[in-house]
Amino acid sequence: MIRLARYDEAAVALSIAQRGFAETRDYPNPSSALREGLEVFQRAFAKGGLVLAFAGVEAIGTARLSVDERLRPHVERAAMGERFDRVAGSELSYARLAVVPEHRGEGHGRAIAHWIEDLARNLGAETLRVDARSQQPDNRPFYEAMGFTIDGYSARYGIPDIRTHLSKLL
Ligand SMILES: CC(C)(COP(=O)(O)OP(=O)(O)OC[C@H]1O[C@@H](n2cnc3c(N)ncnc32)[C@H](O)[C@@H]1OP(=O)(O)O)[C@@H](O)C(=O)NCCC(=O)NCCS
Repeated sequence: MIRLARYDEAAVALSIAQRGFAETRDYPNPSSALREGLEVFQRAFAKGGLVLAFAGVEAIGTARLSVDERLRPHVERAAMGERFDRVAGSELSYARLAVVPEHRGEGHGRAIAHWIEDLARNLGAETLRVDARSQQPDNRPFYEAMGFTIDGYSARYGIPDIRTHLSKLL
């Protein structure tokens, strides 16, 4: 089951993200997700919201949405399946997609990504965007397998292309 989180579930999403990105602690450049606190997750509600995925009653996956402000008023209804007219030039992006290690490889990550894509289509977004690490680990194949293409790169930690910007036209 995948749904939008309620405001009082921000700490649940934070905890999943912390567990999801914990392994990068051992890399030379740990994910900046590990430095994020509750307020970052709470602020997401003003920008589009948080997604939670469940295995039975246990929350095991999350993602953070950033929705074009023209589409934001419809997010909750679109998440329930309602479809809205396409809005020219509108975008939905997401970040911090994470599944807890104990539930990896069970299809939850792809299911969350597909759920967000359906939400974006329902909202009338034209473009879906995501940033992925290019190394440590290389997450790009996960998105490319779902039809995302590479738009460009940006630097962090002195590595010129560590972030890959990907998008998908809907
Ligand atoms: C990336 C992540 C969300 C995938 O979640 P998951 O539930 O294990 O993924 P799924 O089981 O849905 O796998 C779907 C497909 O993607 C592949 N895949 C999973 N993780 C991948 C990765 N990091 N890179 C490339 N491919 C990956 C799987 O092998 C599977 O392919 P298959 O169907 O051909 O076997 C999870 O590994 C995670 O939380 N990673 C740590 C946080 C992170 O890096 N998030 C991404 C931010 S850009």
